[in-house]
Amino acid sequence: MGGRVWFIGAGPGSPDLLTIRGARLIGEADVVIWARSLVHEGVLEHAAPGAEVVESTTIPLEGVRELYERAVDEELKVARVHSGDPSLYGAVLEQIELCEEIGLGWEMVPGVSSLGAAAAAIGRELTVPEVSQSVILTRRASRTPMPDGEDIRSFAEHGTTMAIFLSAAKPRALQEDLMEGGYAPETPCAVVYRASWPDEQVIECRLEELADRIRAAGFTRQALILVGPGLGAGGTRSHLYSPAFSHMFRKAEPAEKEA
Ligand SMILES: C[S@@+](CC[C@H](N)C(=O)[O-])C[C@H]1O[C@@H](n2cnc3c(N)ncnc32)[C@H](O)[C@@H]1O
Repeated sequence: MGGRVWFIGAGPGSPDLLTIRGARLIGEADVVIWARSLVHEGVLEHAAPGAEVVESTTIPLEGVRELYERAVDEELKVARVHSGDPSLYGAVLEQIELCEEIGLGWEMVPGVSSLGAAAAAIGRELTVPEVSQSVILTRRASRTPMPDGEDIRSFAEHGTTMAIFLSAAKPRALQEDLMEGGYAPETPCAVVYRASWPDEQVIECRLEELADRIRAAGFTRQALILVGPGLGAGGTRSHLYSPAFSHMFRKAEPAEKEA
């Protein structure tokens, strides 16, 4: 059979947002690797009684290599638990390349991203008909530089909903970039800190207040920032549920005749 690693999305925080598949595979693993600072300890309740549990915060990729090489030699099943969904800022690519190099089988298991948890926390759809039908997922440059053409200002020109990860530490520069890019000062924003954790906090404000509100709340990490006119929109409706709109499963109702 050989060893295998599953990159499992643990969800945004609350352990009951782990998927059923993720929970099952954690239960099948010989080794569970998790990061205490990002993943709720409750996720470990699914681990088998004899499983080896490794806290990853202090291990660099070299330490992971050692563990994965042992998984090849001893044919171990490893559950590597990531916060949210592994496909977003999850640093899985380097691990996948390592697996390919040493001949360890791997599989990705999706999770609930903080994007969905943040939208749920504010009770808002991110794609509002006739206002915003696109969501840009991005971040500001930090020690990780942004590729050419991916700066916040140029994305802001689209004026649609933007979800900004990993960027609460420099809110003033972020606010400036968003406004210089073209969002109006009154554009609605939301900042969700630790979405779905017991200490979740939400700020809802106008863009011109964003930096002050983030600073006052003291959020520097684990916060997702949402911006865009769709966050404050109302009064539009989707085609899908409109009586005048036919689709595969329903014929449009005939328009009422004028008297
Ligand atoms: C390294 S990224 C990981 C993102 C993760 N893979 C996901 O799908 O949500 C960490 C960033 O995601 C966002 N984040 C992760 N969990 C969060 C949560 N529970 N509440 C708010 N933002 C969160 C924050 O912007 C944080 O700086």
